Amino acid sequence: FRALKWIWRATYLSAIAGFGWVAYGIVESRNPPDQQPPDPSKKTLVVLGTGWGSVSLLKNLDTENYNVIVISPRNYFLFTPLLPSCTTGQIEHRSIMEPIRSFLRHKKASVKYYEAEATKIDYEKRIVYVNDESEVKGSVSSTEVPFDMLVVGVGAENATFGIPGVREHGLFLKEVGDAQAIRRRIMDCCETATFKDQDPEEVKRLLSMVVVGGGPTGVEFAGELQDFFSGDLKKWMPEITKNFKVTLVEALPSVLPMFSKQLIDYTEQTFKEETIDIRTKTMVKKVTDKYIEAESTGPDGKKIVEKIPFGLLVWATGNALRPLVKDLMSQIPAQKDSRRGLAVNEYLVVKGTENVWAVGDCAIANYAPTAQVAAQEGSFLARLFNQMAKTEEIETELLKLSDVQEKAPNKESRDEAFNDIKDLQKRLRRVKQMGPFEYSHQGSLAYIGSEKAVADISWLTGNFASGGTLTYFFWRSAYLSMCFSTRNRVLVLVDWIKAKTFGRDVSRE
Ligand code: FAD
Ligand code: NAI
Repeated sequence: FRALKWIWRATYLSAIAGFGWVAYGIVESRNPPDQQPPDPSKKTLVVLGTGWGSVSLLKNLDTENYNVIVISPRNYFLFTPLLPSCTTGQIEHRSIMEPIRSFLRHKKASVKYYEAEATKIDYEKRIVYVNDESEVKGSVSSTEVPFDMLVVGVGAENATFGIPGVREHGLFLKEVGDAQAIRRRIMDCCETATFKDQDPEEVKRLLSMVVVGGGPTGVEFAGELQDFFSGDLKKWMPEITKNFKVTLVEALPSVLPMFSKQLIDYTEQTFKEETIDIRTKTMVKKVTDKYIEAESTGPDGKKIVEKIPFGLLVWATGNALRPLVKDLMSQIPAQKDSRRGLAVNEYLVVKGTENVWAVGDCAIANYAPTAQVAAQEGSFLARLFNQMAKTEEIETELLKLSDVQEKAPNKESRDEAFNDIKDLQKRLRRVKQMGPFEYSHQGSLAYIGSEKAVADISWLTGNFASGGTLTYFFWRSAYLSMCFSTRNRVLVLVDWIKAKTFGRDVSRE
């Protein structure tokens, strides 16, 4: 009984301590301490982008060592792994956005942020040209920002492979605006399909939801959309049940090629059960406002061209280079053979430059373009820059000490300076011992609908593949813990509870 009493007391005290800690965290996050002003005498480090790579760098960077300037048209960080859930209202988009202003305000030394798009990098002149692309413009809306060091973390744009009609008639899934547009379009298609006297063929077309690209973006979106239909739309609009159809079109022989065979089969089987139609080995060649033209090979080896009508078309065929990156590559002879992005060395230095680094989807370092890679690259660069600043500090100190040693009036002070130099040289060697970037793959996770997920996880002893409902809970807890801030975590959790309790919101705006 006494032991129980002690356990109760300990639990009670730890609960109070836990609440106190969270409350302190919230108060501290709302009231950041004063920051050191930026020091223009320090080297100017310009960071382009506020995505996974750049934000991870900024999170871990000791900003007091540099005059840091961040340029991005997006004044928030976006937690992309949960973006497919925003297309159906499972999660509200603001729950996965973190304002860059409040994040930067918590750095020790202040960081300048400009909401602008970098339109050109002049590598020779060390200047970034920027444009304010927002709706409200002042008397100055384009200017130049000089740099000593530059980090390019601008990500990639959507690949269309020049297929006609994609940009005009398809929707992408990369940014918050894309998810909002898809959510509006789904509801618009459903409402228009139920319009009085609607033509039956047109009803079928409007309720045909086509997803092109069987990578993780296409698969996760198709799963979320089918969930939305079976969990909510069907209930509130029973008249669409017969014609609502999700089709996933993929050029390769299977979806999710980066997952193990076992998980690919599991995903395809689950999609069958969910009645999602998978069309593999089918390549989309043309898009019009009402249908796609897809080419596949028939059993006799002959090419078949088929028209698939759509109300909603989501185009998820991977990444392409941004014009800014293409232009930078054209200025650097060492980038001449690089096609898919900025070729970097093992320290993420853009090949052929000394003072430009690249992280994330715009860099080619032989890893897949994922958030995991971008985040690890960003934190590696932060360590590198912190170390470079320390090295410079020690080297300056060493120069001063050598001077002291030279001018020392007697042997005793000469010896003292000599010992200090030896200590500093040892420290310098230690600081300089930073190895190259090494990516540590934690695994791949994807949601496939009906509260099921697939996971290829890397363990010490090898790989572990799993799929199903338990994996779905793992997927949820993993992404919840990876959210940027406690605020994001709480908001996402509340959204999940809200959707489970009341269903997803089917209003159009
Ligand atoms: P981004 O995060 O795209 O950031 C680029 C930044 O650069 C943005 O802030 C942008 O506004 C800014 N920018 C663009 N142009 C300019 C310019 N001209 N000047 C200045 N700034 C500019 N990966 C995973 O590992 N796991 C997942 O579960 C996962 N899920 C995903 C789900 C979706 C729907 C999508 C689209 C991607 C997903 N990814 C996932 C991939 C992951 O999001 C990317 O690999 C990651 O975002 C790359 O980070 P980045 O910093 O290179 O680019
Ligand atoms: P992706 O490049 O992974 O897949 C695109 C797919 O589209 C390919 O399988 C390709 O064969 C297909 N395709 C291309 N052109 C086509 C055409 N004309 N017709 C039919 N199919 C065509 O692209 P995705 O899914 O956008 O992912 C981009 C990156 O983001 C990847 O590195 C991915 O790993 C990462 N990501 C990771 C997620 C996760 O881990 N859960 C979720 C989403 C993205």
